Amino acid sequence: MSQERFREALNLNIFQIISEAAAEIGQETYVIGGFVRDYFLGRNTPKDIDIVTVGNGIALAKKVAQKLPNQPKVSVFKNFGTAMIHAEDMELEFVGARKESYRQNSRKPVVENGTLEDDQNRRDFTINALAISLNPENYGALLDPFEGRKDLQAGILRTPLAPAETYSDDPLRMMRAIRFATQLNFEIELESLQAISAQKDRIQIVSKERIVDELHKIMLAPKPSIGLKLLLETGLLSFLLPELEALLGIEEVEGQTHKDNFWHTLEVVDNISKTTDNLWLRWAALLHDIGKAPTKKFHQKIGWTFHGHEFVGSKMVYRLFKRLRMPLNEKMKFVQKMVRMSSRPIILAQDHVTDSAVRRLVFDAGDHVDDLMILCEADITTKNPKKQRRYLNNFKVVRQKIVEVEERDHVRNFQPPVTGEEIMKAFDLKPSKEIGIIKEAIKEAILEGQIPNEHNAAFDFMMEKGKTLGLTPSKT
Ligand code: CTP
Repeated sequence: MSQERFREALNLNIFQIISEAAAEIGQETYVIGGFVRDYFLGRNTPKDIDIVTVGNGIALAKKVAQKLPNQPKVSVFKNFGTAMIHAEDMELEFVGARKESYRQNSRKPVVENGTLEDDQNRRDFTINALAISLNPENYGALLDPFEGRKDLQAGILRTPLAPAETYSDDPLRMMRAIRFATQLNFEIELESLQAISAQKDRIQIVSKERIVDELHKIMLAPKPSIGLKLLLETGLLSFLLPELEALLGIEEVEGQTHKDNFWHTLEVVDNISKTTDNLWLRWAALLHDIGKAPTKKFHQKIGWTFHGHEFVGSKMVYRLFKRLRMPLNEKMKFVQKMVRMSSRPIILAQDHVTDSAVRRLVFDAGDHVDDLMILCEADITTKNPKKQRRYLNNFKVVRQKIVEVEERDHVRNFQPPVTGEEIMKAFDLKPSKEIGIIKEAIKEAILEGQIPNEHNAAFDFMMEKGKTLGLTPSKT
């Protein structure tokens, strides 16, 4: 069967097939969780479908797989009493209804089977506890014991049981509440919010990987500041990102203040989220000012300064990534680079924009120069319209010059136009420090615009430079 036909058959019949399989083994069965929630919200139909059955989830999965075209493999997680079928681009997860809390990836084995209502009770939010029947007698009926539908319409996150119990069952749900509130722009019910604040320190028993998964989802939402603000208000932020919380507040000495760098950062993150879906660039926006807390100083004459905060900040990125078990690979290096360079285009744009400054910017930022420009444009949060216009205009000039300079000088991924070998040959040199000096001088001359980035021009420059160093050109 062709891929196309396979998908069609699957999409059309998947629930029908599950329904038939369930009837054959005599188990009440329902679609539940994210699929139902997103269906009612009119969000893109999710590819993860959770099926709950009153009885044996693994047996149902096996029966369903037999009925599917191409009989896909069933992955069984015996300890959890769950089974998964990966069919085309869909993931079907089967679970037996349970009395105890529904914990994903929990290491604790499932003990007690329960009814559908028991199972719904133990889920995280009313909007995630909606179930649709796949049973022949009421196929398609909605089972909504906690008025989850109403909460969906009103945009409210509420727990089926008393919030203290639901969050204590699985503290990851505190993060999930904030994540859903951010993704869906929903309110977390007051009692729930209070329970999260009261239990915030239990976040420490949740694995870093799962916390970071939720943080990423918050960061990828249309307006991440919703979640960041909730993390601050509930007190979770001080466990997760204390460096960010340290940016909070305005100090005043002798009547001089600085801006509140926490709220500024949140604005920058929201700004950048309108322009890019690049998760790591969004993280760079979140962390671009973290070096400001440890470098903050008051000077009698000039007021508040944050000298070297970009460099300090980029060092802090490493420690933060390490602590949260985030990848210490090129993603982190990218974030570090963005943080380290985050003030460069602004300094440029405050003055007359020179070619050589732009050339240096492109040289240092390499392939990430466009991302850096996106970050810096998002960083403009001034409420002074005149200033804002001036910065944006100057950035336009910078962008234009980047293109021009690149066309002419190709410094983005700079390769020295004259090699060390050539220098050695030209002056009959053995490996020595002069070679480094000449190479550096060539690079500087190109960045300064003294010579174009071309072999012949660089070669002539090299000959001149060699002479000033007292070197004699070789005879050959
Ligand atoms: N669930 C829960 N508590 C958790 C995790 C999950 O009660 N800590 C339940 C919810 O009913 C949830 C369902 O398990 O709807 C499926 O979980 P999951 O696939 O993680 O999330 P979805 O709700 O499907 O949402 P998303 O795909 O956006 O993560």
